[in-house]
Formats: sequence, C-alpha cells, structure tokens
Amino acid sequence: MHPTPGLGDLPQGRPLQSEFDDGLDYPRLGTVSFRRGTLTPNQQAAWEEHWPRLGRVMSDEPINIEEWFGRSGHPTILEIGSGTGTSTVAMAPLEAETNIIAVELYKPGLAKMMGAALREGVENIRMVRGDGVEVLNRMIAPGSLDGVRIFFPDPWPKARHHKRRIIQSGPLHLIATRLKPGGILHVATDHAEYAEWISELVNVEPLLRYRGWPWAECPVLTDRQVRTKFEGRGLNMDHTITEFLWERVADDAAPAQPAPAATPEAKQPDAEQKG
Ligand SMILES: C[S@@+](CC[C@H](N)C(=O)[O-])C[C@H]1O[C@@H](n2cnc3c(N)ncnc32)[C@H](O)[C@@H]1O
Repeated sequence: MHPTPGLGDLPQGRPLQSEFDDGLDYPRLGTVSFRRGTLTPNQQAAWEEHWPRLGRVMSDEPINIEEWFGRSGHPTILEIGSGTGTSTVAMAPLEAETNIIAVELYKPGLAKMMGAALREGVENIRMVRGDGVEVLNRMIAPGSLDGVRIFFPDPWPKARHHKRRIIQSGPLHLIATRLKPGGILHVATDHAEYAEWISELVNVEPLLRYRGWPWAECPVLTDRQVRTKFEGRGLNMDHTITEFLWERVADDAAPAQPAPAATPEAKQPDAEQKG
C-alpha cells in the first residue's frame, strides 16, 4: 500500500497513462523524478493555505471552469509545462479577462508561481499538477478552451527519448478536440531539431489548420508579450526561437481523416539532453 499523498502531491508509483485507441502517437512519460522536490518554509505555508483554492492534482474529476474561476463568459487558455511560471504570472495581468490554467508536473515550479501570483495579486491563474496529456484527456471538456500554450517544451534530444516529446500526432489531436472552433494552439521552442520535428507534424491533425508564424490576424490572446525563463536561456545561448500557431477549424470544415501519421524518424544520433 502506498501512503496517502500529501497536499498537491501526485500519487506514488507509475503515473497514470491513458490508453488511446486511435492509432496516433502519444508520448510515453516513463517515471518522472525531479532533483529538488522541497519547498521553502514560506512556499510550504502558502501552499497549504492556497492550494485547495488555486490548485488541484490531476484526477478523473472534470474541471468546472466557471466554478473554479468564480466567473462566467470568460475565455480560457491552458498552458502545458508552465515551469516556474515567471512568464505565466507576468502575462496574466495583461489578459486579466482570460482564465489561465497552468499545468505542470514540477511542484516547486508551481509553488514558485503560486508565490508570485499571490504577491502580485494576480487572480486569473489556476494550477493543475500532472501530465498535460492526461489533464486534457481526463479533466477538460471537449470544445471548452480558447487557447493552448506549450512554450519551450522539453526537447528530449536523445533519439531514444524522442517518444517522450509532447508534440506528436496524438496530443495534437487531443488538443484540437479540447479547443473551441477558432481556438488557437501556440507552441514555441528554441531547440532547432525539435523545431524541425514539429515542422513535419504541422499538417497531421485535420482539426487544426496550420497558420505558421507570424500570423497578423491571430487573436491577441496568444501573442507572447513576455519572455519565458527558458526562452531567455535559449537566447543567451544564441538559439533561434521558432513559433508555431494553429487554429481549430469548425467540425464540419475538417477534411476526411488521413491515415495515422507516423512520428518523424530520429534525425540525429544521441545528442545530449538539456541540463
Ligand atoms: C523547458 S521547461 C519550460 C518552462 C516554461 N514554459 C518556460 O518557457 O520557461 C519545460 C517544462 O515542462 C514541464 N513538462 C514537461 N512535460 C510535461 C507534461 N507532459 N505535462 C506537464 N508539464 C510538463 C517540465 O516539468 C518543465 O517544467
């Protein structure tokens, strides 16, 4: 028997992974471990006080967005992999009318974001601790999101880890089903080889119309006005930032489903993973 998880802790053991039976490619997360999982005393105190209101752990309970944010009729954007939330918290006041759901596995990252949001009086962010794919699948109703953001996802550069990448045909389909028609998927990476991988997948999902970058008429809600932490790191190393935008088409506008897309082949030998 595993001990009862603490507040905001993921259940012990292997992470929950849905079996998708649609012939598409989904990431295999494997066991997730983090080097430093502890919170500072201040973070711990804030966590205990505010997590029950601002956060939840991934589960099979669908999120009632209006109830959670305490308001109705507002657009909702889900960010997968918010990290320490530096840019999430900086951007949220610029889109105060939008509900932001930040999904992240890393507890100290969520604790840091919570602390910053509380300090800055930012009220339009809620947090889910868990794997973004599972959160979308289990907790987000179809056609309920105006946007999905994935900024600087882990590139998993080693060829044997490519299957862990979040941008694959399966998550693209899942994201499309959770977006409203007209909703936007925005992805950015500073990893050249991951950008090439994504480029090969831009047209695999019939429900997503690829809009490229830049896209002048893109609804402003996806405009990145603040640099993320990993973007800054990439720029310091002279990396090029590559951005991708897709628009969710209307259900009846999707072309007939093509054959399942294969994951792009590994293009380079085992490169070192990021530190
Ligand atoms: C390279 S960091 C980028 C963080 C932030 N977006 C930024 O630009 O500074 C990637 C983050 O995504 C998180 N992550 C990776 N896979 C995830 C998944 N399947 N679901 C939720 N978070 C994930 C990692 O824990 C990590 O914090």
